Amino acid sequence: MNPIHSPFPATRFRRLRQSAALRDLVQENRLSVKDLIWPVFVTDVPGADVEVPSMPGVVRRTVDGVVRAAEEAARLGIPAICLFPYTDPALKTETCEEAWSPGNLSNRAVRAIKARVPEIAVMTDIALDPYNANGHDGIVRDGVILNDETIEALVKMALAQAEAGADILGPSDMMDGRIGAMRNALEAAGHKDVTILSYAAKYASAFYGPFRDAVGASGALKGDKKTYQMNPGNADEALRLVARDIAEGADMVMVKPGMPYLDIARAVKETFGVPTFAYQVSGEYAMLKGAMLQGWVKEEVVLESLMAFRRAGCDGVLTYFAPEAARALRG
Ligand code: PBG
Repeated sequence: MNPIHSPFPATRFRRLRQSAALRDLVQENRLSVKDLIWPVFVTDVPGADVEVPSMPGVVRRTVDGVVRAAEEAARLGIPAICLFPYTDPALKTETCEEAWSPGNLSNRAVRAIKARVPEIAVMTDIALDPYNANGHDGIVRDGVILNDETIEALVKMALAQAEAGADILGPSDMMDGRIGAMRNALEAAGHKDVTILSYAAKYASAFYGPFRDAVGASGALKGDKKTYQMNPGNADEALRLVARDIAEGADMVMVKPGMPYLDIARAVKETFGVPTFAYQVSGEYAMLKGAMLQGWVKEEVVLESLMAFRRAGCDGVLTYFAPEAARALRG
């Protein structure tokens, strides 16, 4: 950046703000529908389209409903959709087998989307929490979340999802060593083109509350996730995690949550120059949507909040606002 400019009145910053044309011309960052990944919730509950109470406007969809969402995404130009299953509580166990069942809800939804809307990139979630009787992302024994045993389960999950046709695997579990283990297993199984978007810097955050309601994990979770998700006080550690995940074979990395951690997104992009994403999580959505519904802020906050990610250096954003942002961007 050039810090030199002539003093007033030679320099008047307002000259370039006087018309929409000039403002457009000198705009530094742009937000496009192509920057968006749309997270959606899938359920086997018949009928579906049940609104998540803590996420007004966000519904759980049946597999058919998710296919319709993928069709809508395609019409709007949204390049990717990300699936999160609301698992039948009867299928949750301490060993989490449902997580790698080829016919589980998420894998059925991937197959259905790929059959009907193949041009949409389908992202999946790799973590045990939707399948775990304990609500944790890892296998729990005697109150301890086991790292290495969890990795074996996550690798099976990754292979089942790749087999179902997922384009982007999203390990959101924060176990150590999982990216390398998955990458090796994918190569060995012939899934060499399946991409990994690692939740590399995922913080132990209270902003995930509404999501846990959405996937039905709130009731099941015993304790917190602080032994595997990051301490919100840390920044250098995020860079070490990103370095590690890239070295192990991640194609893209994520910072999560989004708005409260934009400094981390900026540091990741500047340090590594890799495809960098942020997740504007459920609690961020709930805050903005709640204030919008009260009439306390205008709908413009949606695009403004998403532009912040572009300004911070993110290549894209996972956001529950994806369809409404896409419509707003079209004008
Ligand atoms: C769990 C997972 C979480 C989210 C995505 N995957 C919640 C958690 O870690 O407890 C949060 C997404 C959101 O809040 O929107 N593996």
